[in-house]
Amino acid sequence: MSGVREPAAQEQRSKTFYLETFGCQMNVHDSEKVVGTLVQQGYRQVETVEQADLILYNTCSIRDKAEQKVFHRLADYKKLQSQGKKFGVLGCVAQQEGEKIFERAPHVSLVCGSASYRNLPQMLVQLENASGPAERAIPRAAGEVAALRDDAFVEKASDSGLRTRDLIRITGLDDRQTDKCFETEFTARTNPHRGYITIIEGCDKFCAYCIVPFTRGKERSRTSDSVLLEARQMGDLGYTEIQLLGQNVNSYKDPAGKRSFAELLAAVGEVPGIRRVRFTTSHPRDFGRDIVDAIDAVPSLCDHVHLPVQSGSTRLLDAMQRLYTREQYLERIGWIKSAKRGIAITTDVIVGFPGETESEFEQTLTLLEQVGYDGVFSFKYSPRPNTPAVTLDDAIPDQEKAYRLEVLMAKQRELQIIRNKRYLGMILEVMIEGRNEARQQWIGRTSQNKTLNFLASPQAKLEPGSYVSVLVTGSFPNSLVGECCISEQMELSVHPSSMIAP
Ligand code: 5AD
Ligand code: SF4
Repeated sequence: MSGVREPAAQEQRSKTFYLETFGCQMNVHDSEKVVGTLVQQGYRQVETVEQADLILYNTCSIRDKAEQKVFHRLADYKKLQSQGKKFGVLGCVAQQEGEKIFERAPHVSLVCGSASYRNLPQMLVQLENASGPAERAIPRAAGEVAALRDDAFVEKASDSGLRTRDLIRITGLDDRQTDKCFETEFTARTNPHRGYITIIEGCDKFCAYCIVPFTRGKERSRTSDSVLLEARQMGDLGYTEIQLLGQNVNSYKDPAGKRSFAELLAAVGEVPGIRRVRFTTSHPRDFGRDIVDAIDAVPSLCDHVHLPVQSGSTRLLDAMQRLYTREQYLERIGWIKSAKRGIAITTDVIVGFPGETESEFEQTLTLLEQVGYDGVFSFKYSPRPNTPAVTLDDAIPDQEKAYRLEVLMAKQRELQIIRNKRYLGMILEVMIEGRNEARQQWIGRTSQNKTLNFLASPQAKLEPGSYVSVLVTGSFPNSLVGECCISEQMELSVHPSSMIAP
């Protein structure tokens, strides 16, 4: 929970850590839990690597570029090891590369995949015990934590100027069979108004291009009671927006059998104090009509669904092992569009999957038109180790992938220009996220997950986290602009997700 308890011992400790996070919202939220765990263990978070005793990277391996970033960071700060600083690699690259990381970056002492975070407290103790001036052998603990020093490694590391006492190697690499979740009461949420709750970890879908099932393990859901308890605690602490997280949130299966995903969604939406509920990411295969019914029934469920399609071609979807056809995907879009409220739809697309023909790529472009997305996250296919697609022939040259990406982005930009114009003249409720002093504008987010920058009179007592109604006066491809017309202070009761035509 927010407001991580400060242990009494904290006053006298000198242990500090720096944590940088790469990747998706799951990683961002994992980092909040990791920070909470470290603080509970007597560590203090600092802003720079220079101030830190322990430098941690929570990594992403979804595409090769993301993976390379962490090795660049490790190389950049390697010299700090001579000051006694320790380095740890967490998250998906840790799980994917495992002990190979010690070879590539011998100054790393800790490698821990996300499925092993619950063991972090013991691993930190191991790290501290091993970090004394005297070299000490560290016993293996339940096969999860080990400090190893094999001769070949020592030789290689000493070539790179390290001393044997620096060669601490602690690993937390549970395999994908683990059925444990990382539930902790010590979550250091960074935003006091909006917070994440993980409802399901891992993925069992094995899409042909995707590394996630290998790095995050098998699907495991939390009980809906424990999710609701966390949601109520957040409501009591003053949070007004909750985002339910999972690689596939709608594959959620309550281990206690009490609630379906849609029922859980509705129940979170009814928690006192919670004005907005979002959820991400949904898999089209498991996307049921009951989710749309829940959005229709519960006003606090936001007017937004993120439904990754990946490709508009049924042949390619089959090659990607996505488990649905273009038509089945469009059927789900039809359900969303038939909701009582206008629901914004966003998606993910991969271009240049092996064997993607020009006409198959064209089908993705026509799908963009047919659906009318509010936003598209598009990526060039990146071959990932161990995935089924890595062995496929017919790789698309990088230049062609880049071209297709450009075409797709230009097309979507045009569509978004048209789409965002529809909001002109409407009054949308926003949650204030911050202020851009240079432009004298407040930054707000609508229920549809659009950024709406707006002007307000200096008399209006606005602050981040408050909700106000804004008249949309202008639109861009990626944002809207407007003027504050009704504020909470005026005690005007506005439906949380009202879209009022002028
Ligand atoms: N190459 C490119 N994009 C990928 N994604 C997942 N794996 C890959 C890959 N190997 C994209 C998908 C997914 C999003 C989170 O990242 O579009 O929905
Ligand atoms: Fe990856 Fe597919 Fe699982 Fe999403 S559903 S995490 S794309 S394997």
